[in-house]
Amino acid sequence: MIIQISLILLALYFIYDRIYLVYYNYWYYKKQGFKPTGLPLPFLGDILTFLKVLKTQDEFWEDAHYEYLRHVFNDDIPQYSIDFRYPRGMLVITDPDFVFESYSTKNKYFEKFPRSRAMSKKILGESVLFAPADELQALKRKHLSSAFYKDKMQSLLNSIISTTFDTVQETISQINKGVDELDLNQYIGKLILESIQICIFGVNEKLELLPFKQKGKIDQLSQGVFMNRLSAGLLERSNNIFRINFEFLDNHFVGKAEKELEENTKTLRRFILNMINLRREKNKALKPEEIPHDFLNMLLQDDLFKDNESLMIDECCTFMLAATQTTTTTLSNLFFYLTKYDSIRTKLRNEIKDIFGQQKMISQISKEEWLQKLSLDEIQSQWKYIFMIAQENLRIEPPLRKSTPQIVTQDIEILGKKILKGMPIIFHFLGLQRNPNEWPEPMQFIPERFDPSSKHFLTAEGKKRKSGSFTPFLGGRRICLGKTFAENIIKCVTPVITSRLDFEVLKPEYRERKPPNGLFAEPVYLMKVKLYDQ
Ligand code: HEM
Ligand SMILES: *[C@@H]1O[C@H](CO)[C@@H](O)[C@H](O)[C@H]1NC(C)=O
Repeated sequence: MIIQISLILLALYFIYDRIYLVYYNYWYYKKQGFKPTGLPLPFLGDILTFLKVLKTQDEFWEDAHYEYLRHVFNDDIPQYSIDFRYPRGMLVITDPDFVFESYSTKNKYFEKFPRSRAMSKKILGESVLFAPADELQALKRKHLSSAFYKDKMQSLLNSIISTTFDTVQETISQINKGVDELDLNQYIGKLILESIQICIFGVNEKLELLPFKQKGKIDQLSQGVFMNRLSAGLLERSNNIFRINFEFLDNHFVGKAEKELEENTKTLRRFILNMINLRREKNKALKPEEIPHDFLNMLLQDDLFKDNESLMIDECCTFMLAATQTTTTTLSNLFFYLTKYDSIRTKLRNEIKDIFGQQKMISQISKEEWLQKLSLDEIQSQWKYIFMIAQENLRIEPPLRKSTPQIVTQDIEILGKKILKGMPIIFHFLGLQRNPNEWPEPMQFIPERFDPSSKHFLTAEGKKRKSGSFTPFLGGRRICLGKTFAENIIKCVTPVITSRLDFEVLKPEYRERKPPNGLFAEPVYLMKVKLYDQ
């Protein structure tokens, strides 16, 4: 009897949840001008169209979500749409005014979608990334950002400049031995990984291999590769169509592949715990001023974190995850665009010449000279052109094509659109940053878009651009915590490599068209690398 009643209740709940609510949302948002991606089928949403789109995947694909929107709306993605691949729909926004309101006056009503936290809990725990925006989260953010205060930032950047310089030297000696082909994405990936590892875990840690389990096999991987595979696996898990539809499974790992994934998260967390314990011992023997400025040491000295290993592991995992792939993708794209635009590369080299003095050959600049000219003060006051290139690169291909889902905490109205509490909302960065009304010829790489004295600074109608049109780091109180750090990394790594190396695209079809490179896409960018020696 009890079983039968429970089954009936469950069925009623499902009818309510998967039919009534779905059609309610469909009607409610459509009435307000949100364009539905399709008719939501009970349980399946608009999965069938999506599967059809997935079949057309090739190397020139943007991410699956963007291609789906393009397909459904015939290349003309509306400013307001509702994506019915998700059971109850997900709002997708590319209106810069709406985005701006959401980051400013309406920001206090915004929250991250709670399911993101549930799905990533096993690895990220309570970390700032998906925690609710309460006082504790704000306090943690404040404590964590002390890792980027001026002296510490400088010391992190110095180690990155130094690592980059050494990497370039190593590449030069390879070229001299006749080894002159590389995969740009892999090359930058290795450099950034090493750099970020040093920033988080310090220079002297020995880089242990970790056992990664996949399909019953165990591979011994470096921390970084381990982390990449793990995050790709977790992403795949969270995008799984069945998972999207069955919320109650968010906290669970189901089936063999997911069980292996779970084991891998445990391996990583155990490894970081071990590192914390070793480091505590080591620091005991040092005077406070001798303790190096890396992220782990910052946590070990911070009142909020130092007594709780689990919280420290959460933030270490988050920083690795948030920092490595994003920055790699950004820099790999930047160097690819430089191969396509000779004039931009030349202008960049002229800026290097100007800063070091015209009589200097830029290929002769020493590590010490770089460290001096790429100090924080100088990168802010001197390196103007590089900053424009960096911005344009983040515009044309934001490493995260869209935000993670957000929600509002109560029913509110933004620019006349009524949004219901808890409804997932995505800000689509790629859509915003390629909007032809705001960015004339959006597919052209034009750094001068960020030069206030250039005509490219304005829209086609000669108006100022809306600030919601460029937000690769999100905005408001949950804006990327590493934004300034990431920007500084780009400004430091770019000139050091450009002063010495020239990349040349090997595949002819890629010279015409760059295969997109968003987070976890990992295309192969085969390049010939040549010495630049002027
Ligand atoms: C070019 C490189 C980067 C880009 C484009 C980027 C972009 C973003 C974006 C879009 C978000 C919001 C995620 C969401 O939609 O929920 C975010 C959050 C975050 N990022 Fe970054 N990021 C970059 C580099 C970094 C680096 C280097 C670090 C750390 C050292 C970092 C740490 C974080 C953290 C901790 C958050 C969560 C902040 C919060 O929710 O309060 N990011 N980032
Ligand atoms: C660490 O913090 C978490 C989350 O706030 C808490 O559940 C846990 O009990 C704490 N552990 C210790 C050892 O204090």
